[in-house]
This record gives sequence, structure tokens and C-alpha cells, in this order.
Amino acid sequence: MKVLVTGVDGYSGWPLALHLLHRGHEVVGIDNLVTRRRVAEVGSQSATPIRSMSQRAKSVQKVLGKTLRFYRGDLCQWEFVRDLVRKEKPEAIVHLGEQRSAPYSMIDVHHAVQTQVQNLTGTLHILYAIREESPKTHLVKMGTMGEYGTPNVDIPEGFFEIEYRGRKDKLPFPRQASSWYHWSKVFDTGDVMLANKIWGTAATDVMQGVIYGTRTPDIDRPDFLTRFDFDEVWGTALNRFCVQAVLGLPLTPYGKGQQKRGFIALEDSMQSLTLSVEHPAAPGEYRVFNQFDESYSITDLAQLVVKAAREDLGVEAEIHNSYNPRVEAEEHYYQPHHENLIRLGYHHLRELRQSLTEILTDLQKYRSRIESHRHVVMPRMNFRSPDNRDPLHIPAEKA
Ligand SMILES: NC(=O)c1ccc[n+]([C@@H]2O[C@H](COP(=O)([O-])OP(=O)(O)OC[C@H]3O[C@@H](n4cnc5c(N)ncnc54)[C@H](O)[C@@H]3O)[C@@H](O)[C@H]2O)c1
Repeated sequence: MKVLVTGVDGYSGWPLALHLLHRGHEVVGIDNLVTRRRVAEVGSQSATPIRSMSQRAKSVQKVLGKTLRFYRGDLCQWEFVRDLVRKEKPEAIVHLGEQRSAPYSMIDVHHAVQTQVQNLTGTLHILYAIREESPKTHLVKMGTMGEYGTPNVDIPEGFFEIEYRGRKDKLPFPRQASSWYHWSKVFDTGDVMLANKIWGTAATDVMQGVIYGTRTPDIDRPDFLTRFDFDEVWGTALNRFCVQAVLGLPLTPYGKGQQKRGFIALEDSMQSLTLSVEHPAAPGEYRVFNQFDESYSITDLAQLVVKAAREDLGVEAEIHNSYNPRVEAEEHYYQPHHENLIRLGYHHLRELRQSLTEILTDLQKYRSRIESHRHVVMPRMNFRSPDNRDPLHIPAEKA
């Protein structure tokens, strides 16, 4: 199958491209390399030393004897997207090429606007390019579990049945995002649903849980490493906890630390996306997959990292709950469902405990890269309005 991966230079796009190549698919990748620039903008870098896209494509040729055709380009340029889809006519597009950091979207008005305008523009361009140039293409669109928020009822996969004032319907489950970034994903979902309704675009909308890990079987060599972000803007809580443990800093869950989220290993996310591609939505079908394995609270994660650091590195890490810069429920019900991928044959491959050993080992190996950036790990930014902040909050650079 010919698959176009947008965001192929990213944390998940790069291992996905390698995984699809391994499985015999033809892969075309596009990226404008903006995550590299945005991470540098906040004074950070990937903990893993990643190669440039041209070096990566060369290694693919040399090591795998396969060709990864890479186009450097911006999804916000309509002619670029249209011409690419016209030329390649992929059977599937896996759309990962978006701004993916909630804190980045909350920096100021410009970052909020950039996130929403660029994410929605890219998605609309892809939808129109499919309609005009390749209507049979199946779109696998990467959304996020964060679209649902934390409702006090179970979270279904996209739709739920409801009875209201004596009448019944099957409706999209309400979205309650908590950052400008997460709302951009909700708006994307609306656009993908509309394209399906009016043009019959076949689409899988993936509600992706937080991904963790530095390794998959496909990237287990230095020239195939994928990025690993650890600063407060780009790093997930788990990534930051691992870096804090390695650097001898306290682990800092925000607030009470009882916020729960769905998590999935990088290898399992690749498996899930591949299943979505290889078992496409039927023509005219719109389906939603909740893509995660386990739910953990932020405190669970911090405790697991403390244990792994003790057992794997002999390091005694401490947990210091910190001020919560986000506006979110710190204790809540959380019961999302995930059955659709299991029905397609999904089975859990990599345990969190194993991934923690790999992450901690890799961070030790590239310690100098995180050591020189230790100042970017602690929280400095804030989602709240200035008059709604905890007066005790001291930005890390002044602490
Ligand atoms: N990593 C996670 O834990 C996670 C969780 C839920 C959802 N997601 C979603 O998965 C997708 C991929 O995430 P990731 O972690 O690989 O992010 P990433 O930032 O590492 O990768 C995204 C890639 O897309 C590229 N890109 C961004 N905007 C572009 C544009 N306009 N034109 C061309 N290329 C562009 C970036 O340069 C980057 O290489 C994103 O849509 C993200 O929102 C990720």
C-alpha cells in the first residue's frame, strides 16, 4: 500500500515510517521541520541526538535497502498539499503533522493563533486535496484523548447513545478540551466528520493517549533514533519525571497529582496506526479509535519512575508536588473505552516498566544533552489568567 505520512520527522512519524517500510508498504513522508525550530525556540533540544531528515533517508536506503521519499513542505501551503496528493495518490494518509504541545499553545496570543490556524489549515488542505485529487484515499487523522476532557461518565469511542426528553439518538460524545491546542484537535474532528458527511471521505479519527518510550524494534540503532522531548513545554509529564530522576531533581507532579490520563507505548502506538492503515475505514465511513492501553494518575507515574530509578540506576528520587500551572480537575473519574482496535487484532506489546528501563538507560547515555538543559525542565509557564494565580507560584528561573 502507498502511505503518505505527514509529520514524518516527528516523534511518532519517524518510527511509523520505518515500521510501514518494514511491513512492505511504500512510504512517502512530508514535514516542514517546524518542531525542531519550536523546541529550540523554548531553549531546549531532543534528549536523543536525532539525525537530519536527509541523513535519515540515506540510512533507510543503506540499512534497509528501501526508499523513503521525503518532501520538505508546509501543510499550510495549499498548492504544495494539492500537488503532492495529485502526484502521489496515496491509498492512505496518516496525518501527524501538527503543533502538538498544549503549553506551547498557551504561551501567548500569537502561539494560540498559530496553533489553531496552522492545525486547522493543514487538516482542511488535506481534506480538500483528498476530495479533489484522490477521493478514495483513507485519512488516518491523529487526534488526542485530551479532546474528551475528564467527564464524570465513561468515555466511549467517539459516539454515544443518548435519550433526552423522551427521544433517542446516537451523537458525537461531548468534547471538553483544556488548552487552545486541544481545542484545535476538537475543531479538526468536526472538520473530518463534515468532510465524511458531505463528500464521503473515508476517515479514522484516532484519539491518541499520551505516548511514551524511546525505542521500538524499528528504531533500535543510533542513526534511527527518534526525538525525545523533556522540557516543560514539549515534554510529557512522564518524560520530565524520567529526566528529573536522572538529573537528581525532585519529580514534580502538578497539584494533587490525581489527574488521570490514558497512556500507550510508542511501539504500541505504531502497531495501532498500522492496524488502522491496513484495515481501512470503508468508503464513506467515519470511525473513531481511542488509542491507549492503560490509565495512570500523574502520581502513579511519578511513583513508577521513582521505583525504576531506584532499581535500574540506584538513584533515590523524591516527589515534590508543585504548583499546577494548568486549569484542570486534579481528582476525577476516568473510564475511557478502547475496544475498536482490539477487534482489529491489537495486543499490548511493550509494558510501561520495560519502557521506563529503556528511557532511563537512554537518558543516562545522553546525559550531557539533558544536563546542559536542566533549567528547562521545571514549570515556568502558566495557563491561568494573571489574577487567578497562586501567589506562591515562583517561576523556576527566579526560584
Ligand atoms: N506524542 C504524544 O504523546 C501525542 C499524544 C496525542 C496526540 N498526539 C498527536 O500526534 C501527532 C504527532 O505527534 P508527535 O508527538 O509525533 O509530534 P511531533 O511534533 O514530534 O511531530 C509532528 C511533526 O509534524 C511536523 N509539522 C507540524 N506542522 C507542520 C506543517 N504545517 N507542515 C508540515 N509539517 C508539520 C513537525 O515538524 C513534526 O516533525 C500530533 O498531531 C499530535 O497532536 C501526540
